[in-house]
Amino acid sequence: MTKPVLTYPEPILRKKTSPVEKITEEIFELVDTMVETMAAEDGVGLAANQVGSAHRVFVINTAPGDEKVDPVVCINPVVLQQEGEIVDEEGCLSFPGLYLTINRPTKVRVYARNLYNEGFVLELSGLLARAAMHEVDHLNGVLFIDRAAADDQSKVEKYCEDAARNTEVVRDR
Ligand code: CO
Repeated sequence: MTKPVLTYPEPILRKKTSPVEKITEEIFELVDTMVETMAAEDGVGLAANQVGSAHRVFVINTAPGDEKVDPVVCINPVVLQQEGEIVDEEGCLSFPGLYLTINRPTKVRVYARNLYNEGFVLELSGLLARAAMHEVDHLNGVLFIDRAAADDQSKVEKYCEDAARNTEVVRDR
């Protein structure tokens, strides 16, 4: 089952998520929904709060651009190490149409648990390192607009004003 991806300024996107204590049926269902939603939206990654859940879980697609998604599920992720930096264009399913140039590490090592409660270390570089850092930010209530370069500030302000205005219109109905 897919779920609509929540968009800015939905308040849950600003909430820090809570660690998963026990991998229950609810977590299996959440991960299922997240993987299907990520695939349907053609995203490289998705965080639980983007589909309305407060659990510390993200998924990334390690085969972006391929026909079949190759998802990795990261429960209670911790960034162990980051290396280098690179500025590149980045988008977010919670900000349709907004692309910003963001500085991210070129390589990261992330520790997480899988659905069988086994710990593993994920070593990622390039686009996937970027995606993992973006999703860890989401789980901390941090959004890519918070990391926008000075040159992109006016673009961010305009986008956020428009998004806030459109939300008011919806609420007024
Ligand atoms: Co995002």
